[in-house]
Parts: sequence; structure tokens; C-alpha cells
Amino acid sequence: MKLPFAHRFAVIALTCMASSLFAETVSLSSLDLKQMTAGWNVAKADLGIMGSPLSMHGVKFVHGVGTHATSNFRVNVNGAVERFTAKVGVDDTAGSQGSVEFVVMGDGRILWRSGVLKGGEPARAVDVNLVGVRTLELRVTDGGDGESNDHADWADATIEMNAGAPAPVALPPYETFGLKTKSFTVNFQVGDDGRLYQRPIGADDANGKLQRDDEFYPPAGDGYVWEPALQVVHADGNTSTALLYDGMTRTNESADIESTCVHLHDPAYPFEVTLCFRTHHDEDVVEQWVEIRHQEPGPVTLGRMASTSLLLTTNVYLTHFFGDWAKEMLNPITEKITPGTKVLDSKLGVRADQFRNPSFVLSLDGPPAETNGRVFAGSLAWSGSFQCAFDDNGQNVRALVGVNPFASAYHLKPDKTFTTPKMIWVWSANGLGEMSRKLHSWARDFGMRDGHKTRAVLLNNWEATGFDFDFNRIAGLYDPAKEIGTELFLLDDGWFGNKYPRVNDRAGLGDWQPNHKRLPDGLAPLAAAAVKSGLRFGIWIEPEMVNPKSQLFEQHPDWVIVQPKRELELQRNQLVLDLTRPAVQAFEWQSIQNILGVTDISYAKWDCNRYLTQPGSFWLAQDRQSHLWIDYVNALYALMDKTAKTFPDTELMLCSGGGGRVDYGALKYFQEFWPSDNTDPVARVPMQWDYSYFFPPMAIASHVTHSGNRPMHFACSVAMSARFGMDLDLTKLPAQDKAICAGAISAYKEIRDVTAFGDLYRLEDPHQEIRGALDFVAPDRARAVVFAFQLKDGQNTPVHPRGLDPARRYTIHELNPMPGRAAMEQEGKTFTGEELMRDGITPSCSNALEASVIELGS
Ligand code: GLA
Repeated sequence: MKLPFAHRFAVIALTCMASSLFAETVSLSSLDLKQMTAGWNVAKADLGIMGSPLSMHGVKFVHGVGTHATSNFRVNVNGAVERFTAKVGVDDTAGSQGSVEFVVMGDGRILWRSGVLKGGEPARAVDVNLVGVRTLELRVTDGGDGESNDHADWADATIEMNAGAPAPVALPPYETFGLKTKSFTVNFQVGDDGRLYQRPIGADDANGKLQRDDEFYPPAGDGYVWEPALQVVHADGNTSTALLYDGMTRTNESADIESTCVHLHDPAYPFEVTLCFRTHHDEDVVEQWVEIRHQEPGPVTLGRMASTSLLLTTNVYLTHFFGDWAKEMLNPITEKITPGTKVLDSKLGVRADQFRNPSFVLSLDGPPAETNGRVFAGSLAWSGSFQCAFDDNGQNVRALVGVNPFASAYHLKPDKTFTTPKMIWVWSANGLGEMSRKLHSWARDFGMRDGHKTRAVLLNNWEATGFDFDFNRIAGLYDPAKEIGTELFLLDDGWFGNKYPRVNDRAGLGDWQPNHKRLPDGLAPLAAAAVKSGLRFGIWIEPEMVNPKSQLFEQHPDWVIVQPKRELELQRNQLVLDLTRPAVQAFEWQSIQNILGVTDISYAKWDCNRYLTQPGSFWLAQDRQSHLWIDYVNALYALMDKTAKTFPDTELMLCSGGGGRVDYGALKYFQEFWPSDNTDPVARVPMQWDYSYFFPPMAIASHVTHSGNRPMHFACSVAMSARFGMDLDLTKLPAQDKAICAGAISAYKEIRDVTAFGDLYRLEDPHQEIRGALDFVAPDRARAVVFAFQLKDGQNTPVHPRGLDPARRYTIHELNPMPGRAAMEQEGKTFTGEELMRDGITPSCSNALEASVIELGS
């Protein structure tokens, strides 16, 4: 509506005058003083803390508030406020004793402080401009010498509000907020000192006094003496940082997802930290990361920059997974965290894992169990050097996880943001099984590509041919592959390099032109022939690497990561290209486009067969060498992201000399990962079990091979429980084994929607046991699949499935049964879910290296 001119003028005039003429004055003593804290007794309206009239230096005051240090009072003034005025000091009832300091804060920032005032001194006048402030905070500190006799008066204290503004309202004395999901909560509180504190997870006392050690994201150098989350050298050389709470913002991304940003700042520097959380309500998953920025006159150096630093109560057990090449995840270790700092880390630069995965479980009710107890698992989404530090100070355990601070000092320029990798946390009050199911559900939606599509059955030529092949040898594998039921053919290493042909692992890496002798017309005809045979075609690449024996290295010897003046150290005869160099980024991206752009290529295995041992860059400046670790991984993610976006229909397998890159940092650009070069099914049963704590089985590539020389039926059954593939020479496979493989493939096609999208229940732990067993239950619980893997000779005792619908009737049927073995007693019979979970299913296997895959249909 448009007002007539005269009226508009009147409105403008009134608005201008409002602040001075129509301001409304509210007396502090009229507010709800129950919300004001006092170190002794309770705050009083229009009286001193002792109940006598307010009085300072012999002068009496009729109005005001009497309190006692330490005191805190927060008032919502809605951004519609003008000023705060008062006369403050130590009340005469304290005589010449008592010393306090009065502090006026607006929205977390100190606006005025009195300095220390002593008993007997005259009152000091306060007049603070509050324009724009939303939360006014009035604090009285003990002046640094303890609280005794600290009788403090806010005399004649008034808040001047804008005319017509809502009345100021007293708030709870400390800002508190929580992060909440369906069954998990973590609570925060802003302390008297303006810092942000966290209530330890699992602590009994939800209201206990917070200690300095409970700071949520503790920076080093200003009072916190344990393992810090952040360590900064400011532009002027100051090695201390303080972080005060500014406020927080929340946004709902969907009914299930909420984003929370907590803003902190250093009161002495233009230096800010934002703590970011993305909570997934139903999955009890919290993604956490940190953003750091500043406007100091020069770069600041970040020495430590954890992604998370959550506090837990003591009495926590840690489960982590030690391993090595071909032994990834094979050695789970559970230990009680004791005072001191337990560090799990890697310093490999271009991948997270060789000896341990950046994933772990913390359990609060003793060692973790599958179906009960509170467990809190973490997985760092980072494919480079990482550090998990569990710092037990005797009171609490702090879990600090992030990029490894080792040799990674980062010089952050003004106005640039440093974003830490994401930490993925998942909570379960009912043990590891529920924890994994929630994490798998999150991963299918957010942690990987195409988590809602089943996977094609893959045949890889690596074990069949190694480096020794040509067009005809490969094309000759297609028809047998199709006949047996596979759907996707993967051509492995050895297809490229001309001056230095890639006929072994000593030459050719980096020269991504198809080898003229082997593939005279390039990749396209080989891919087309696969498609003609009814198969999709995939290709092996290792874009980040180079053999010294290559044209690429001859042309660009300065593109590699090495340390000058040191004897060159090769791993698998190769070096890592320096992805921090723009020319290398452009080269790798061009190579990927050239290869994946070939018609009919719809799958790629992206390998990375070495890690950094001599981390020197010819590209980075002398004083930026320590950026290599972080800049490399971020450049790698940019490359992976471009690849995933440019080739949305090309599925990608993440591989790194086995399981070196099994982490949620890289997996979000990939559909699956290669967990290990160890494909012996006897090792794969426990290995896949361990990976499944954190990663959905549909992402765990599991290929049938001759490794370990195990019975083909056993090998097929193990591979079927994850993302099924084969790496066999089908042209040489005995007929009986071929029939078993064909049966396994057809059975897998029947159940792959259940194993991909169903809920996993780990039933019998295979570590050092006679048998391993799992079941998957379809989301609607109409179907389920039970796997039993006999590792040693035993009796065929029943396997008890879990997660079935108790009332539903299921018919039992063994898939692809081993020829010659007696059928299960329950074969073809129908039972309720309740009966099956109670009485179990007796599989047909009982001797070592036998397995059963049992479908429960309804
Ligand atoms: C790595 C992979 C293998 C194979 C070879 C090829 O070792 O783990 O599966 O692709 O590279 O060189």
C-alpha cells in the first residue's frame, strides 16, 4: 500500500525520532533474575546480595541488582536495543574486601569491561552502545583472586530499547545447544569465558561443572595443555590462539538432514573458525569438518587442524585394524584407552592406508559387541596422510582426527579458507551390527556413487593373462565370458606404451597411447568387440604414476615427486607425478579424457601402486614443500570429481595396490573399491567382515580367483557376499568349475538386489573361528540371503539369521548347491521368521572350505 505523501513524511520523521524520543527504558531488576547465576546466595532485585540496600562507597541506590561473583546473566534484546547503563562496583557489605570485574558483552563479543574493582571504591559508570545486539550478556568475574566477599552491584542498571520493540527477556545463563539425531545427542555450552565447551559423550552428569579441559575445539597456546585440535602461528609470530563463541546457525537441508555451523573467533586477531556439522537423523550419522580463515596482514601457519575433537567419557575401548599389503584389515585390535595419547596414523601422502584404515570404533560399554552396547565409529574421509589421536587426560578421552600434522605445516593466506576433510561419525546404542547398517544406509545415499544401482558381474583378465596379451587373446575371452553369464569385461594393465611398451611393470607408465603391436587400431575396436559379444568394456588406468623408463619421464623429469640429493627410491619401478603442478593436472586430466572418452568404455579401474617415501616437489616453493601432502590430495579429488562428472555413466573402481584408498574421501567419486590384492577366499571371509563394519558390501569388490587354490564353490560363495566379479582364465577352466561359476553368477543375479540394498547382519565372526556367517535382509523383509563359510572342519550346527520379519513365512532354498553334497534338511520347507531366528537354519556345509548360500523367499 502506498501512503499519501504527508503520511509518508510523518512515518519517516517518527522513525528518525524513535530512537531518541520514544526509546523505552527497562530496569534490569524487572527481569527474571532467577536466570542470573551467582557464586554465592541468589541475585536480588533492588537489593544487595546480603538483602540490604545497594550501596557503594557510602552511596545508596534504590534500583539495581545485587549479585555475587561469579555471575552471569543473558538477555534477549532482539537487535532492537539502544544502550545499557549502570553504576557498578563492590557492595559496601564487603567492606574493604572483595574484588570483581564487570563485563558487558553483545552477541559473544566483549563490549566493555570495568577492570578489577575493589571493596570500598566508588561505583564506576557503564554506558554501552548496544545497537544491533541480539543477546546482551552481563558477567561478573572474581577479579582473578577467588570469589570470597565478591558482592557485586549492578546499580541503576537499565536497558534502553527501541520504541515498540518486544520487551527484553532473560535467557538461561549459558547458551547451550545440542546436535541431535534419532538416538544420539552431543551437548555444548558456552562457558563464562566465552569459549565453547562440550559435555563428554557417555558422561553420567549432564550438568556438572565444566572444566577448562572440556573445551570443544581446543586451540594450543592459551591455557589448554593437552593435545590441541588447532595449532596456529599468527602472522605476527604469536603461537597462541583463543577461540570464543560467536553464535551458530542451523539449516534444514531435508526432513532428515540438518546443517549446523558454529562460529568462533580469536578476540585478538581477525582469525575465525567455523565448526560444521551435517546430521543425518535416521542414520545417526554426523559429518563434521572445520573451516579456518583470517584477515591477518600475512599468512598464518596451521600446524594442526583436526577435523574433529569430540570428547568422550573415560572407560572407552578402541577397535582399530592393523594390516599390510595383502593383509588389509585382517588384524582387528581392541584395547582399552588408558591415560596418554594413542596415535594411529599414516604418512604415505597419496593414499591413506597401507598399514591401517582411517576408520575405528569406540565403545562405551566394554569391548564392542555385535548386538548390544553403545558404539561410536569414525571414518575420516581423506585419502592422504591421516592421524587419529585418542588423548586420555584421566578425566576424559578426546578423539582428535584429521590430516596428519606430520610435516604438513600449512601457510594460509588472508581471505582464503582452509577446509579440513570430513569426519564421518555414526552412533549405535545396540552394538556394531546396527552401527554398520546405519552407516551403509548413509553411504548408499551420500558416501559413494550409484548406491542404489546393482552392479554388473565383472570379468577381469589380470590373473588370466597378466601383461601378456594382444587383441586376439583378449577378444578370445569375450564369448566364454558371455556364455558363463558375466556382463562386464575389464582389461587390466599392459595395453599402452610404444617406445617403452608396458609389457611388464618396469616400463611405459605415463605413456597412455595404446600399444601399436598389441592393439594396432587402439582401444575402440576391442571395446566394440566386447559390446558385440554382449559385454560392457572397462579399462585399467593409473593416471598419477610414471615409470622412469617412459617417454613422459624423458620429456618431463621435473614432474615427479622425489627428494633431490637423495638416492632415488622406486616402488614397483615407478614414481608419483606431482599433482600440485598445474601442467601435471592438465596432463592427467587429458589422459583420462582420452581413455574414458573412447566409445564403449563404461568402466575403469583407477589404480595407485605406490606411496610417497621422498616427498619433494620441484613445483612448490622452498617454503611451501610442506603443502605437498594436502595440496596433492585436494588436486586428486578435483581430478576425480571432474572424471565422475564428465563420465557419469562410467563406473569407477578405486584401487591402490590393494586397499590403500579405502576411505570415504575418494569413494564418493567411485562405485566400488578394491579391498586387497589378496583374493584367497579364506582371507577374504574375515577381511570382508572387517571392511563391512564401515563400508557397504556392495562397494567391496570381491573376485573369484585361484588364489590359495581353494575349491571353486567356496571361492564363488565368498565373492557372492560382496560386489561379485571374476578374475579367471575361462578358456582353461575345467568344466566342473565352469559349471559352478555359471551357477554362482546366475544365483548372484537373483540375489544382488538383496545383498546390495538389504540390511547386513553379521552372525558368526570368522576371526579364528570354525565358521563365518552373515545374512542380508531386503528392505521390505520379504527376502533374505544367508551365507555360511566353513573355515575349518566342524559340525553343521544351525546358523541363526537375524533381522527377519518374525510373522512372515520364508521358504528355504540353497542357491547353487555344491554338486554331490547332501541337501539341507530344511530345503524347500517354509518357516516363520520367528522360527528361523530362534531355531536357525542348518547349512549343508560342515567341512573346511565348504560354503552355503541360502535364499529365504516369501
Ligand atoms: C595392482 C592391482 C592389480 C593389477 C595390477 C596391474 O597390483 O592391485 O589388481 O591391476 O596392479 O599392474
